[in-house]
This record gives sequence, structure tokens and C-alpha cells, in this order.
Amino acid sequence: MATIIQNGTIVTASETFQADIKIDNGKINMISNQITGGNEDTILDATNKYVLPGLIDPHTHLGIKGTLDAFETGTSAAAAGGVTTIINYTDPDNSQTFLEDLTEWKEKAQNALIDYSFHSIINKCDKDVLEQISKLPDEGVTSIKLFMAYKENMVNDEELYLLMKAAKKAGVVTNIHAENGSVIDCLVEEALNSNNTKPIYHAYTRPPATEAEATARALRIAEITGAPAYIVHITCEEALKEFVRAKEKGVNAFGETCPQYLVLNEEYLKQEEKEAVKYICSPPLRTNKDQEALWHNIKSGSISTIGSDHASHPYVNGKENGINNFTKAPNGLPGIESTLLLLYKYGVCEGKISMSKLVEITSQNPAKIFGLYPQKGSLNVGSDGDVVILDPNKSSVITKASQKQSTEYNVYEGMEVQGSIDYVLSRGKVIVEDNKVVGEPGSGKFLYRNRFREHS
Ligand code: URP
Ligand code: ZN
Ligand code: ZN
Ligand code: ZN
Repeated sequence: MATIIQNGTIVTASETFQADIKIDNGKINMISNQITGGNEDTILDATNKYVLPGLIDPHTHLGIKGTLDAFETGTSAAAAGGVTTIINYTDPDNSQTFLEDLTEWKEKAQNALIDYSFHSIINKCDKDVLEQISKLPDEGVTSIKLFMAYKENMVNDEELYLLMKAAKKAGVVTNIHAENGSVIDCLVEEALNSNNTKPIYHAYTRPPATEAEATARALRIAEITGAPAYIVHITCEEALKEFVRAKEKGVNAFGETCPQYLVLNEEYLKQEEKEAVKYICSPPLRTNKDQEALWHNIKSGSISTIGSDHASHPYVNGKENGINNFTKAPNGLPGIESTLLLLYKYGVCEGKISMSKLVEITSQNPAKIFGLYPQKGSLNVGSDGDVVILDPNKSSVITKASQKQSTEYNVYEGMEVQGSIDYVLSRGKVIVEDNKVVGEPGSGKFLYRNRFREHS
């Protein structure tokens, strides 16, 4: 019982060509012209459609306290958007070790519809933590995340150095949220003292310089340690300059941005407060000039990946708490299901990136950086049959009425997108058909990732 996708336009990170694909036992076992099937095979017609590897979203926050999407609804929404793998952030409290916490997260994710992995967030640095990092790859997890942004859990330079060094030794990638939290706290206090409490002050108190400074500092420490460093959610030209400088110097640096930074801007934070609070995320939305810089750096290869940074904070008892004081709104935007169609419309259709680049940044690069390649990340013989069939000729408008994620709002409300997701396959099984999620909760598998390899 194989699945055969006929007459499609296959897109890989290096080429686009016409061929059929046969998936058997969950794996791609043939890519060739005119593959015919038997009676018991599932045949999908992809004439005039693109056939892409399923997206890997390397930045999701499902199952976080206070948010609406845990693994079942979150991965269902992800699947509807063509995502077949997520790498979700854990959220350790300090009552247990981060390895114990990881075990809990693996259990929490058991009702996922798509395959999943984790990045372990590390909130402190001591001898035990440093020792545990060496054991993380045995748990199948080969990345950690450090924060420079928030007083509660930020690491100082010494800790950055020690944690990165331990991570490098273990073959673990260090993900970094790079914003200078200490300076931001001063700016926030000054704003509140001057009664500047509107949502736009969330952005004004986290200016590009705070992101650029932390990016530069993190990458200097990466340079000293030789550790692979992955800067999450890069938003602005100033941070990009620091990032590119480090990369040109040979630092093992990888950069991620998010759809919201490519298609939304700080004007959204200047709307009426009750609307603007929905858009509070860190780092904040920036300017059109920053968007251009991000697209340019995707095209040039400096930015490697796109993550949604999906955080499904409710409006009621969530975002609305920030209406009179921006510091009371939870940070982060929902959007796990919108990445592909947004990038197709505002990237490919607008001539900013090619189809192959789209596949590279949404699938191949995250797979390579995070130790999933070639099982995931490309349509190769032997790879998992994770496939999206995209009809480029249909268009639609994003609206909360048709979204799958659980929030009462959609930050892309009213935006036009191009393309329609006809089918999504997870290991050869159809999980989305004509916008309907038909996958079974619990059919997603925990993925054991490989250690970081140089030149990923
Ligand atoms: O504002 C954001 N991005 N919230 C999610 C948590 C994080 O910082 O990644
Ligand atoms: Zn972050
Ligand atoms: Zn240029
Ligand atoms: Zn995040």
C-alpha cells in the first residue's frame, strides 16, 4: 500500500523538476517519471501543483502555561499549514532538572499529529546544568536555548561562555534570544515613570540597538568558544549587520527570522490599544526598512531558517491585560499555520525569493542545523514521506474564522495569501486534505536528533 504523487512539480533546495514520487512504508522509495500504482495504492494527482518537503518549524511554544494551543490543537494547526515537524521549546520551572523537565515534555507531546522534537530552555548555569548538557544528546535533543532578554532567566556573559562551551563539547547547538534585557528594563522603567504605557512603547523600549548589542555579544562569545550559535527571531537591520560581520569572520552562526517580522511592522503597535496589544512580541515588530533587510539576508543566505515563534496567548485574560500598560501583555504571537502561504505570497510571488529558497529556509536548513537531515528536510529517496502539495493558483484571505489555531484573533487577519494546501503527508499518510485535517492525534513521533555536525 504505497502512496504515489503523480505529475507534480517537485521542489528541492537546489532544483525544480517534473516527476512522480512513490512513498512506501513511510519513506520515499522512488522519484521518477511515470510511476504507476496498483489497486491498493493511494494515487494523488499533483498536475500543475508544487510538491514540497513538509515544513520544519524550528521555533514553536506549544503547551506553555497560559496559552491555548497544546500539542493536539497546535500540531493540527501546524499540519494545516504544511508543517510536518516542529521543534518546540520546553519551559522548565526550577523545581526539577532540565532533563527531568524534558521527560515531562515528551509525555505532554504524545497526542501530536506530526513529528516533534524539543529545544531545552536553560534558565540557569551551575555545575549540574553544565554536566547535564553532556547527557542531552542521549535523550535525542541536540540544542539548548538561552535568554539574554528577560531578568527572570537571563544568562550573563560568564554563563553564556560556560554554557556554550559545554554545548559545543556535547555537539549541541546553542539557540539564543538576543536582546539586552538589563538595558531594556531601564528603558521600560523610564517609560512607565513618564506614563508611556501604550503598546507602541513595548517597541520603543526594545530598540534595535538592544537586539544588535546582544547579537554581537553572543556571537563574540561564540567566536571565543567556537560553539555553533543559532540566533532566534532576528528582526532588524542593525542586528543583521552584527550577524553578518560575525559570519564573515567565520563564526559558526545561524540566523532565524519569523513571518511576522517579514510581513508586519510597528505600525500595528500604533493602532488603538485594544487592537495593538495583540501584536506585542519580543523582539518587537520593526519597520519596512528592516523587512527589506531581512528579505535581502534570506536571499543572500545569511538567514538560514524561518520559525513561527507560535505562542497562542489568549486575548481575554491575556493580551488584553496590556491595554493600559504594555508590560502586562504576554509576549508572543500565534501563527503556526500561516508560514508557508505568507512566504509564498510575500516572498515567492513578489519576487523576493525563489521556490527553492523557500524550501531551503523552511525545511532543508532547519533539518541540517538541528540534526534531522536527511531523514527530514528534503524529497530524497530514503527520506521520510513528509510532503506538501501546494496549488499555486488559488488565493485566500487569512481570517480567524477559518484558522485552526485556538486564539480568538489572528494577527494576519484580512491579509491576502496565495496558494492553497491541497494535501499534507506525514510519513506517507495523508494528514490534511483540502484544508481539512484528517491526521490522528498521537500519530506524531518524537524524533531523536543527531549531534551538530560542522558545515551544516
Ligand atoms: O515574544 C516572544 N517571542 N515570545 C515567545 C518567547 C520567546 O521569547 O521566544
Ligand atoms: Zn525568544
Ligand atoms: Zn544587496
Ligand atoms: Zn520564541
